[in-house]
Amino acid sequence: MTEHEIKIAFKEYDTVSELNSQDHNLCLEAKKALATSHSPYSKFRVGAALLLKSGKILHASNQENVAYPSGLCAERVALFHWGANHADDPIVSMAVTAHTNDFPILKPVTSCGSCLQVMAECEKRQNSPLRVLLYCINGPVWVIDGIQSLMPFMFFEERLTQST
Ligand code: THU
Repeated sequence: MTEHEIKIAFKEYDTVSELNSQDHNLCLEAKKALATSHSPYSKFRVGAALLLKSGKILHASNQENVAYPSGLCAERVALFHWGANHADDPIVSMAVTAHTNDFPILKPVTSCGSCLQVMAECEKRQNSPLRVLLYCINGPVWVIDGIQSLMPFMFFEERLTQST
């Protein structure tokens, strides 16, 4: 038996104002996107903003449905929109934030497994790291420099065709 340990790396900033101006701005854009959330069932708003290499910023939010599984997280709304409309313009960074009137959110919201899998595919597709900024309004910001740190055991395409 061999025991393995995997370390993941991320940076924590105590507040959004400690970030450089580009990252700070992207977090504020994710916060703006909260306004478009359609979340009448969970009352949990999630906003996302993508900064593309060209400088363009895309916004998205969670979109729920009365048939609950038909809804989609903000991250995947953002990434599928990018894939359908801007895939030739790589994503530099993605900021995600959340808000609910029901209780204070004290830590950044971390993305679900399905969103991580889609982030991994986008990163692979553009062949450059996708930075993720998990932004807690009135709290810390976690910065992750690539999806490998969020999902060290990700499934990747080569497994379908090569022995590794
Ligand atoms: N949600 C997101 O949009 N992103 C996440 O990272 C976690 C969860 C949404 C899905 C649903 O609309 C609501 O938050 C509650 O789960």
